[in-house]
Order: sequence, then C-alpha cells, then structure tokens
Amino acid sequence: MFIQSHDAIILGAGAAGLMCAATAGRRGRRVLLLDHADRPGKKILISGGGRCNFTNIGTTPDRFLSANPHFARSALGRYTPADFLALVESYGIAWHEKTLGQLFCDGSARQIVDMLLDECAKGAVEIALGRPITGIDHGDGMFRVTVDGRPHAAPALVIATGGPSIPKMGATGFAYDVARRFGLKVVEPRPGLVPLTLGGDELLFRELSGVATDVVASCGKARFREAALLTHRGLSGPAILQISSYWRHGEPILLDFLPDADAPALLRAAKRARPRAGLASVLAEHLPQRLAAALAARLGVAGELGAMTDKALDSAGQQLGGWRFLPNGTEGYAKAEVTLGGIATANLSQRTLGATGVPGLHAIGEAVDVTGWLGGYNFQWAWASGRAAGDVL
Ligand code: FDA
Repeated sequence: MFIQSHDAIILGAGAAGLMCAATAGRRGRRVLLLDHADRPGKKILISGGGRCNFTNIGTTPDRFLSANPHFARSALGRYTPADFLALVESYGIAWHEKTLGQLFCDGSARQIVDMLLDECAKGAVEIALGRPITGIDHGDGMFRVTVDGRPHAAPALVIATGGPSIPKMGATGFAYDVARRFGLKVVEPRPGLVPLTLGGDELLFRELSGVATDVVASCGKARFREAALLTHRGLSGPAILQISSYWRHGEPILLDFLPDADAPALLRAAKRARPRAGLASVLAEHLPQRLAAALAARLGVAGELGAMTDKALDSAGQQLGGWRFLPNGTEGYAKAEVTLGGIATANLSQRTLGATGVPGLHAIGEAVDVTGWLGGYNFQWAWASGRAAGDVL
C-alpha cells in the first residue's frame, strides 16, 4: 500500500539532485532525496582536482552540446554563474578564477558539498543514502518508489542520477532506464571530455608520453586553444578532452603545434636568419625539445634549413600547423569526465525540465542530453537545471 509520503522524490544526490532538493525544500516542499551511494556529491568531491571548478563566468548556451542547441538557454539564463557565486559567497567560501573564466574553491570541494547539504537541511530535505532503488512505478498521479523494501510515494519524481561516466564511483545508466520506462527517448550516450587513443604508426608518439604543449585542436568546425598531452595510449590534456566531445569515429583531429605562428612563414624566416640550423632546433624554440625532435624526424626533414627548398619548408610548416591524427577510439567511460547524449530534450520542457506527457516527471543534470565544455560548464548546467525543476515541484 502506497500512501503519499512526500511532495517530490529526487533520484540521485549529485550536483543537480542536491540543488533541486534544496530549492524545492526551501520552497516548503517535502522532499525525499535518494542515492545508492553512501555519500552525496561524490563527483563534486573529486572535481577540479579536489577544488571543484564550480562554474564558468563565460557560460553561454553555445558552450553546450545537445541535439537541440537552444534547449539549455532558458534554465541557464534564469540561474547564472553569478547566482551560484552569490550562494558560494554567502557561505564565506573563498574562490579564485584560474583561467578561461573557470572558478575554483581556494580550499576544498567539500565546502561546496557542505554548502548544498546545509541548503538541503534548511529546506528539511530527507536524504536516504546507501540503499538501492528496487522499484519505480506510476499510477493515479502518483510516483511510487521502493527503496530497500520501503515504499515512498509522491506526485513528482526527478531523475538526477547522472550518466555512466566513471562507473567505479557508482555512476550508472539508471537514468536512461527510468526515462525509457516512462516512454522518454534517449539520445545514444557516449563518453565525452575523454582522452583519445591512437594506434599503429601514430603510437610512435608513445615515446613522448608525458610531454605537453599548447596547441589548437580542431575537429570539423570546433576549435580549442589549450594544452595537449601525449600519453602512452594516445592524446589527452584539456585541448583533447574538449575536442573529444565533438569527435566521432573515423574523423581526424588536427593539432596546430605552432598556434602562435604562421608555420610556413616561420620556417622560411628561420631559413633566412639561420641557414645552418636544423628543423629540430628551430622547433625547439617553440616546443618541448623531445617533441620538436620527434616532429622533425617524422617530417623526414634532416640537415640544414638552408639546404632545403622553400616548397619543402612550406609543406613541413603546413603539417606542423595541422598535424592529422586519426584516433581509433577513446579511453571510454572509465576516464570520461562526462557523458554526451542522454534523455532527449525533445521530451522535456526547457523551462521546467518536466517531461511532456508524464505530468510530475522531471529530468535534470547530466542525465539529460545537454553536455558542457570542460571548465565548470557541467556544474553550471547541474545547478541551473536543478534550480529550474526545484522551482516548480
Ligand atoms: P552526478 O553524477 O553528480 O550525480 C548522480 C548521482 O546519482 C550520484 O550521486 C550517483 O551515486 C547517483 N546514482 C547513480 N545511479 C544511481 C542509482 N541506480 N540509484 C541511485 N542513485 C544513483 N564538472 C565541472 O563543471 N567542473 C569540474 O571541475 C568537474 N570535474 C570533474 C572531474 C571528474 C573526475 C568527473 C568524473 C567529472 C567532473 N565534472 C566537472 C563533471 C561533473 O561532475 C558532472 O557533470 C556533474 O556531477 C553532473 O551532476 P549530476 O547531478 O547530473 O550527476
């Protein structure tokens, strides 16, 4: 027998679920927040190297990937980085801007989790952790959720269980199962913000594992100027994580190893100024030495620049300005910071994140087909979507 126990049940005590629960609770709603993990906000705790890159002041809708690129606009516009920052400051949490608009705690990510838990406590949110959800069903305007054999019922249910990235932390595709059960569509999920793997010939770069350099990474029309890191399996670093979200199997990634220069012009000028120099030593003025030597060797350019034709230098410069890699895959969900795809936005209201056709059902955060760039955007989406749903529960 299920008797209404709460006004809303929220599945998942991560970033979005905590924000949603606190918002609804502080509006006087009786909220039950459920998670199978033994602690709330585990991904917040490990984020940003333990300092949580909690937002990005450059947040605009075009920094999010989705089948509907306009979907996130409404929620992001109504709960902004400045709003979250005001909350952070109201708790006296010290912060700093690192780079590219990324805001981090000076201290620990734990402060963000504690802040959200405090907000939940102010809203008298009931939190039940460490217990599996064993049943969900719906009828007569009520959602019925069974946890550890105990029944709970509410007229509103929020899916906030995130995506399957980093399964060893308890991440699952549960959100998609629940969504499908209610007839919502799911855009094929795939790992995002993830290192790319190389094979065959390209793995020659393996010997450079650990070398990092500033590049422009591009794939199709997407371009990111940040550091790339060569790894023993392929490519990583912020520029690669960013571009990975735009990459599809079979497509090349281009890396401009000389992002501040017109590479052919630079090589011609070096030939005039220092005709006795070799390519590797000229490149080493702009790149880590080991990388410079490896690139020069791969270009097959040995000997003095002065002995080379301008045409050969132009061709080498063009390759350096757009080195073509053909990744054979990604490091998968085990290493992916986020999951692309998810619950289709076509089934959801932009304003409330409510499911069209299933009154009372909402989906928020990473579970939804909205994925931000690296750099605090994904938490901003979690806060904004959690807030949007919490405001109407
Ligand atoms: P989130 O994953 O936070 O929460 C989902 C919750 O649901 C979890 O508590 C989980 O235990 C629970 N759950 C899952 N399955 C369940 C089930 N079957 N039953 C019950 N509960 C279930 N972003 C950013 O903006 N800045 C940053 O610095 C970082 N850093 C970062 C580092 C690392 C290592 C990772 C993996 C990710 C980041 N991110 C990030 C991304 C960010 O962590 C992510 O986008 C948000 O946590 C998403 O918030 P959600 O609440 O949607 O999911």
